[in-house]
Amino acid sequence: IKTIGVLTSGGDAPGMNAAIRAVVRSGIAKGLNVKGIYKGYNGLINGEIEDLTARSVSDTISRGGTMLYTARCAEMRTPEGQAQAAKVCRENGIEGLVVIGGDGSFAGAQKLAALGVNTIGVPGTIDLDIACTEYTIGFDTAVNTAMEAIDKVRDTSTSHERCSIIEVMGRNAGYIALWCGIANGAEDILLPEKYDYDEQKLINNIINNRKRGKKHHIIINAEGIGHSTSMARRIEAATGIETRATILGHMQRGGSPTCKDRVYASMMGAYAVDLLADGKTKRVVGYKGGEFVDYDIDEALAMQKELPEYWLRVAKAMSV
Ligand code: F6P
Repeated sequence: IKTIGVLTSGGDAPGMNAAIRAVVRSGIAKGLNVKGIYKGYNGLINGEIEDLTARSVSDTISRGGTMLYTARCAEMRTPEGQAQAAKVCRENGIEGLVVIGGDGSFAGAQKLAALGVNTIGVPGTIDLDIACTEYTIGFDTAVNTAMEAIDKVRDTSTSHERCSIIEVMGRNAGYIALWCGIANGAEDILLPEKYDYDEQKLINNIINNRKRGKKHHIIINAEGIGHSTSMARRIEAATGIETRATILGHMQRGGSPTCKDRVYASMMGAYAVDLLADGKTKRVVGYKGGEFVDYDIDEALAMQKELPEYWLRVAKAMSV
């Protein structure tokens, strides 16, 4: 293998630049040519490709976003798009490809592998919703960003003795909500995986907490449940307690990556290049039990992940 490519796909995540930098520099250290593919699979299909040198990735490790840009690519879900992407790889001499993204991006890598391009997936998403790994690039930064924002909402919520519903990202997964719920000492956490949401129970809890002297009531609502604004209106009407909704939104995806995201993303990028250099293909890098590991993409995509019950019980016990 002489030439490899790297792209980022799907939602960006802080730490993606660290992973790209690691792919570039460890590829060069192994004597490989490294090409950067811009705008995810869209850029691959359209041939938006450039040679990267060690200097191309200077001053990127501390930056949020992705220097290669990213996109969600509908065409890559079609056989025509996949064939075109494989053809562009062949035309550019790209024998190995590192795809940094989520499950959807890995599905593209799976197809490319079947078309003869050696592919390795690296988990990059703030949602932590990839079953084969305990760590995904960007989650640590995103939960820290959300946690700091929620602390600020909590200050004003206490001053005004209000109830605050704060909606965090995560698509259909509740990891950001659960972590923030514990880190911010939320009174209630609404999680899509545990959707036994009973609004009357929530309302009773708010009223009881107020009677017990609580000055605020923080509800972390996962994006997968949503409807925070209408929920706030109903809660205010039912409890008589002023209630505000705050949707944190895309601020959770930006910002300089934390130390953990920089380090783990660097390790995963380098690990992906090691796999390609060893002739491996159709693998996904993961982090399990303190070690970096890899799985077959089919196997990785078939895995299921559940929110840990014990964590939920602890979160509940802490909210009294
Ligand atoms: O997957 C990351 C994520 O930020 C999710 O948490 C969210 O549901 C989605 O992407 C938002 O996507 P977009 O930036 O395309 O609106």
